[in-house]
Amino acid sequence: MEIIEHRWTATEYQDLSEIEDVYQRLIQAAMDKTSESYSPYSGYAVGAAVLLEDGSYVSGANQENASYPLCRCAESVALSSASAMYPDIKIIAMAVAVHHKGSFTHDPASPCGACRQIIREQEDRYGGDIAIYMYGRSKIVMINSVQRILPMSFNGTSLK
Ligand code: THU
Repeated sequence: MEIIEHRWTATEYQDLSEIEDVYQRLIQAAMDKTSESYSPYSGYAVGAAVLLEDGSYVSGANQENASYPLCRCAESVALSSASAMYPDIKIIAMAVAVHHKGSFTHDPASPCGACRQIIREQEDRYGGDIAIYMYGRSKIVMINSVQRILPMSFNGTSLK
C-alpha cells in the first residue's frame, strides 16, 4: 500500500523580496548572526533565528570546541535560548543561514539530523508546526514543518 503524506510542504523563493516581511526579518537575523559564530575549527559560520508567537526573535550561532564532538549547532543554540528565555511562548518559525569561505552558501543551509530531532521536540512541546526557512544565495527554501525532512521520526509518544 502506498502512503502519501500531503501535510508537509516545501516552497522555493528566488529572492528575499518574495517573502513576507516578518519572515524576511527572521532570515536576516539568521544571516546577521553568522558573524557571531564561534567556529575557529571549521570556519563554517552558521546562524539560526527563531520567531515566537508574540513576535519576538531569538538568534544563535554555532559554538565549537577543540573537543570536536562538543560542538553545538546554531539551531540547537537558538532553540535552547528561546526555550530558556521564553519557556511559555510558542515557537512558530525559524531560519538558518551559513557563511563559509567568504560568502553565504550557494545552496540553502539545511539543519543536520540531530537538529531536526531537536526541532521536532519543540513542535511537540508547543503543539504546532514550526516553519523553517533555509537561506541560500541561489534560492530560499521554506518547509512548513521539520517533519517534511524528518519522516517517521521518533518522539515522546513512543515513551508512553
Ligand atoms: N552546524 C550547525 O551549526 N548546524 C547544522 O545544522 C550543521 C552543522 C555547525 C556545527 C559545526 O560547528 C560546523 O557547523 C561544521 O559542522
